[in-house]
Order: sequence, then structure tokens, then C-alpha cells
Amino acid sequence: MQRLTIQKIKKKKGKKPIVCLTAYSKSVAEILDKYCDIILVGDSVGMVLYGMKTTKKVKFETMVLHGKTVKNSTRRSLVVIDMPYNTYPNKFVAYKNAKKLKELTKCDAIKLEGGKNITSIVSYLTRKGIPVMGHIGLLPQFSQNFKYKGKNIIQKKKILEDAVTLTNSGVFAIVIECVVESLAREITNAVSVPTIGIGASKYCDGQILVTDDIIGLSSMSPKFVKKYSNIKKIIEKSVKDYCKDVRLKKFPSYKNVYKF
Ligand code: KIV
Repeated sequence: MQRLTIQKIKKKKGKKPIVCLTAYSKSVAEILDKYCDIILVGDSVGMVLYGMKTTKKVKFETMVLHGKTVKNSTRRSLVVIDMPYNTYPNKFVAYKNAKKLKELTKCDAIKLEGGKNITSIVSYLTRKGIPVMGHIGLLPQFSQNFKYKGKNIIQKKKILEDAVTLTNSGVFAIVIECVVESLAREITNAVSVPTIGIGASKYCDGQILVTDDIIGLSSMSPKFVKKYSNIKKIIEKSVKDYCKDVRLKKFPSYKNVYKF
């Protein structure tokens, strides 16, 4: 089985929707690998798995650990890892960290949050052979509030410019987070690379969501998430049944015991 390449992902623009989800662990990555084009090891791991209030305190080492597991557990999907907050303050530090992240995890690409302000960093990384995915609109690493963007002409113009300059700097795809539909559509038509929406309407070349949100494991339920199952309920029932069995001495039964 061959892993999807960046070239193949780029060719899907405007032709076939690009399907992406997040994974932080072996078990989830193995399932996603059967169906997704891109698996993102997002720094949302800080909020989803570690209960942090924002993604700002996620450590580089945390991304390496989760990134390594996900990459080692997949064979087909393209694996992208988020560079955490403050690990790309300038092009030299960004390169040092991106190179390290890539070498340690063997990931296929990294993702950076930002627009015009990081284009020199993106150009430098891509020139040095590090594939970069962009991330514009709502930027969790820098945002004070998690409200949608593109409500007025000034915001729209800025975000559109972010998309165009990032494309010119060499990103292979751009995540657009939480923007109004009309802006997502305009950006998708304006840039030559695929746009991947999260809360950015169907007018993107692909979609991404946090897996824990769609399976009902996280407590996040923004408007743009569709919940496909309620895993929390299934876990709770299993835990409840196990506790009951232990207390009633129904577990372990003869099936779970070693005898000779
Ligand atoms: O960290 C993350 O999971 C992300 C996606 C939500 C796009 O950046």
C-alpha cells in the first residue's frame, strides 16, 4: 500500500473532496488510515487529551510523541503535524524545529498558523524541502476568542490576502478555520492549492474536524461539528457494567482465568 503524496493531494483540488481528521493515538490513527486522505496530529491534543484551556501550552515533545505514534500506525494517509505555539518565531528557529519534528516523527508535512506575517518563514521552510500546510481564519494559537471570522470587509480582505500570500510562499494546502461561507468560497476560487475547511462551509476543497468531536468523546460542540456517534455513552456503559460485575464477583469468570 502506498502513502498518499502531496502531489496527489494537490491534484484533488476542485475534483474530489479531500477528507481529513485528527488523530493523536495508535488506535484512532489505524482506523482513520483506512478512510482519510490526511491525518492531522493537531495541537488540539492539548485541549482534547490534556484538558488545557488553549493550545498555547502544548509542548514540542508532546507533538513528537503523538506524531511518532500516528505516523508509525499508518500506511496510507498523509500525516501532518502541528508545530506548537512559539516554535516558529522566525525562519531559523522554525527550520530547526520543523526539521527536528520531521526527523523524529517521519511525518509528511507540518502545519503552521498564520498568514502574511509568516510568509517569509513558510518560503524558507518550503525552499529547504519541508512541506507546509497553512492555517488561516481563526487561529487557536493566537486567538483570544473563538468567534468566526470574515464578518466585515476589512477582515475578509486580510484573510483573503493571507491565503494568496501563503500560496505564493509554497504551502501545499490551507486549513481555513471558522470563516463565513462567502469568504471560504472566494479563497477556494482564488488560490491554486486545496483549501481544507473547519467551520468554513462546503465551498472548500476538503474538510477537517477533530475526531473526538465527531464521535462524542470531547465536550466541545461548536455549530460546525456534526456528531456521528456518542462514544462517551458506550464507554460509560462498559465502565458501569464492569464495576457491577466486579462488585457482584461476576468478573473474572471461568473464561478469564488461567488453569493448568
Ligand atoms: O489542532 C487541530 O486539531 C487543528 C484542526 C482543528 C484544524 O488545527
